[in-house]
Amino acid sequence: MVLLQRRVLFVCLGNICRSPLAEGVFRHHVMQAGLEEQIYVDSAGTASWHQGKSPDIRSIQTAQKHGIDISRQQARQLHEEDFERFHYIVAMDESNLINIQDKAPYLHTANVRLLLEHEKKDVPDPYYGANEGFDGVYDLVRDGTYNLLQEIREEMDPAEI
Ligand code: 4NP
Repeated sequence: MVLLQRRVLFVCLGNICRSPLAEGVFRHHVMQAGLEEQIYVDSAGTASWHQGKSPDIRSIQTAQKHGIDISRQQARQLHEEDFERFHYIVAMDESNLINIQDKAPYLHTANVRLLLEHEKKDVPDPYYGANEGFDGVYDLVRDGTYNLLQEIREEMDPAEI
């Protein structure tokens, strides 16, 4: 049987604070569900400033507090090919969503959406704020990624899950 892999890309501005955390937490949910063969996860930034860098130390430490290691991730910029490679391109906030849509090729098949689409809420940018901001980001990302996984599971063939 050929299993179609779902590919999920989390996107923020710099790819060092929010989307690396979303990638790590979503992967954790995926592993807990035993779906790591069926669901591929990655993250990217709309800006190129931090390409090749590790996540912000505050995101690494926040993930670590919850038993999740994101220290080996490396920032990269969103590319046009991502719109063909990924089924879901998930923005952390409304301005990311606009930047993603600006980069999108005319015709593409990706489902481009906000992480907290149903709540119509942003995951706020914590970069210039206090350390505690990262705990708030974690809570939003944990719930948003969990709900996204449930949505994806509902769309999957029952034989796959
Ligand atoms: P992120 O946060 O988009 O969640 O990775 C930011 C990281 C870096 C900058 C802004 C936001 N920056 O201005 O360099």
